[in-house]
Amino acid sequence: MRWPFAVLLGSAFVVRQALADLTFTVTATRNGVAIPQSEIKIEPFEFGRGSVSQGTPARRARRKSRRSNPIATSANWCGSVNSAPSGNQIKTIHASFQHPSCSQRSGMSLYPQAEANWVGIDGDTYKSALLQAGTLCTLCLRRHLAWWQWVPSGAYTITSLPVSPDDWIEVTIDTASDTEAEITIANLSQQQVYTMHIGTGPTLARVDADWVVERPYFDGALAGFPTFTDVWFEEAYANLTSSSPSSLGILGAKQYQIPDLCASEEWDDSQEVSWSL
Ligand SMILES: *[C@@H]1O[C@H](CO)[C@@H](O)[C@H](O)[C@H]1NC(C)=O
Ligand SMILES: *[C@@H]1O[C@H](CO)[C@@H](O)[C@H](O)[C@H]1NC(C)=O
Repeated sequence: MRWPFAVLLGSAFVVRQALADLTFTVTATRNGVAIPQSEIKIEPFEFGRGSVSQGTPARRARRKSRRSNPIATSANWCGSVNSAPSGNQIKTIHASFQHPSCSQRSGMSLYPQAEANWVGIDGDTYKSALLQAGTLCTLCLRRHLAWWQWVPSGAYTITSLPVSPDDWIEVTIDTASDTEAEITIANLSQQQVYTMHIGTGPTLARVDADWVVERPYFDGALAGFPTFTDVWFEEAYANLTSSSPSSLGILGAKQYQIPDLCASEEWDDSQEVSWSL
């Protein structure tokens, strides 16, 4: 079932850039059955940008850190970014992760506090646009939610998709061109799947594959950053438009850190190794 949805964002939602309006359609299922359009709720949301990452406690014992990845620092990004070689573009990006729980960071009195977990395309080496989708854990506001944004357009939250700590969330962004994409956010724990189709988004270069935990902006300034349980992006891959290579993963990706607040590491599930830090 297709549900046309167009929203013109008002100034109340302007954070730090002029927002374009997006037109998109939404379909959703629960336990494989279409959710009636009257039950689908998506609304503009003022948090703009991404989030942090690490993993599944049960799988930790099998991970191995690859410390050869280049380390980069950021004021608000933590996680992995890999870029397509010249002449090749990202078509699809994918990952699953467990939505974390978050709590007040001691010594940080800045509110609201929020951390976002997302998968996205661009925004690193290409800064004019960024297509991203994931979840947000907040203190003070609604605590857990699913959201997506095609920067510089504004963010949307899917209020009818419930999110709780430890829920397995799967995000796929599949592009048809630099301006057309389908975002799928699934709560695997709840058997709910939401798919947004956007036909005319801000032009992407489709060169950066991002798996990120972010300290978002709120009202033009960095939000407080809570502590959060580890977020591991699993099955993190990006498929490319041509075949050499045909996909990118976290291997060799830039590992972003937020100094003193968040560190990211790559782990290799394919090897039987002990947890170590
Ligand atoms: C996912 O589904 C679980 C189980 O129904 C639910 O408790 C949780 O709130 C949902 N979380 C997300 C992130 O959708
Ligand atoms: C995308 O890449 C992954 C990881 O390399 C691979 O397993 C999968 O088959 C690829 N999918 C497509 C449609 O090429």
